[in-house]
Amino acid sequence: MSRLAEPIDQLPAVLTVDGLDVTVSGGVRAVREVTFAIGRGEAVGLVGESGSGKSLTCRSALGVLPAGCEVSGGRITLGAAGAEPDTAPGPGAELTAFSRKQWDAVRGRRVGAVFQDPASYLNPSLTVGRQLTEQLRVGAALSRAEAHIRAVELFTAVGLHRPEEVFHQYPHELSGGMLQRVLIAIAVSCSPELLIADEATTALDVVIQAEILELLQRLRAEQGLALLLVTHDLAVVAESCDRVLVMYAGEIVEDGPTAEVLASPAHPYTEALLRVASIGAWGRRELDIIPGRPPETGAELPGCRFADRCAHAAARCTEGPVALHSVDGGRRARCLRPAGLLGEATAPVTEGASV
Ligand SMILES: Nc1ncnc2c1ncn2[C@@H]1O[C@H](COP(=O)(O)OP(=O)(O)OP(=O)(O)O)[C@@H](O)[C@H]1O
Ligand SMILES: [Mg+2]
Repeated sequence: MSRLAEPIDQLPAVLTVDGLDVTVSGGVRAVREVTFAIGRGEAVGLVGESGSGKSLTCRSALGVLPAGCEVSGGRITLGAAGAEPDTAPGPGAELTAFSRKQWDAVRGRRVGAVFQDPASYLNPSLTVGRQLTEQLRVGAALSRAEAHIRAVELFTAVGLHRPEEVFHQYPHELSGGMLQRVLIAIAVSCSPELLIADEATTALDVVIQAEILELLQRLRAEQGLALLLVTHDLAVVAESCDRVLVMYAGEIVEDGPTAEVLASPAHPYTEALLRVASIGAWGRRELDIIPGRPPETGAELPGCRFADRCAHAAARCTEGPVALHSVDGGRRARCLRPAGLLGEATAPVTEGASV
């Protein structure tokens, strides 16, 4: 039976995460009952302070959890898709039950990914052109000659100047921004339905950051790609995401259309993040600005995990579990009094505001 407290009306979904639990260090619960869906072509932002479980959630959907971390509960399902490659598992395939071979058929082909440090995802001893053509030959069944032509087209599409020259270069010969473009070319080369970008622009300077984000939006428009964008920058979410998921201490605490969530948050943590952003705090300073500390990873608390930092907390907040529930149309929040928050004025997000 589905663990969804409420039906997700974002169908047709390209990815459905239902009650995901991830443990680290031999059983410490770092991701708790995470439930969300991403619709075809939808851009979803995933925000929350450092250590809240964003990367573990993304990595679970890619089958690349670090050693010692494992999916201990819930389901991750690929949504219904069109034509399937012969070797790829079909629509509705449950990723959490995948074998290594099944993952190989999905990763890159139906779900692509880019991370913060592109250099560590490329082989330093192979030219970047070779790395892209290998992906194309395996994932899109192209001949060597076809793959070369397609690789140059893709390098052009991701904004690399002199793509033929870049094709023959090694990773150490390229800048961080160029490497991220190469990685994006590899990630979208086999036309996945979903691209997961986990802080893909964090390490880049602001100009390159903006160019890469623009590139992702263009690819989204051209290829009908859905995006899951992990970021600490609420301005990026405001500009480029249809919907935003907010994580706190391993849980999703709010989910809703970006404009509505940013204009009137339904969870006090989201409200606090917006307050931090509106006063122009930079980087990950929210820990200093929101009073108190998040609970230890894995700490078992009887009620709301944000209660002891929350200005609105009441006795009932710590008496029992608080479920993520519908609060207003397509919105969900894990709070007993979201109606009290909805409608309260929040300062607008300013350019470059980060959490
Ligand atoms: N390989 C690992 N071994 C042990 N614990 C881990 C591992 N990876 C993550 N964790 C723990 O799991 C929790 C969630 O980590 P995660 O990397 O998903 O956070 P995040 O939200 O992506 O943070 P950041 O914004 O810093 O990237 C953290 O408490 C972290 O310490
Ligand atoms: Mg992370």
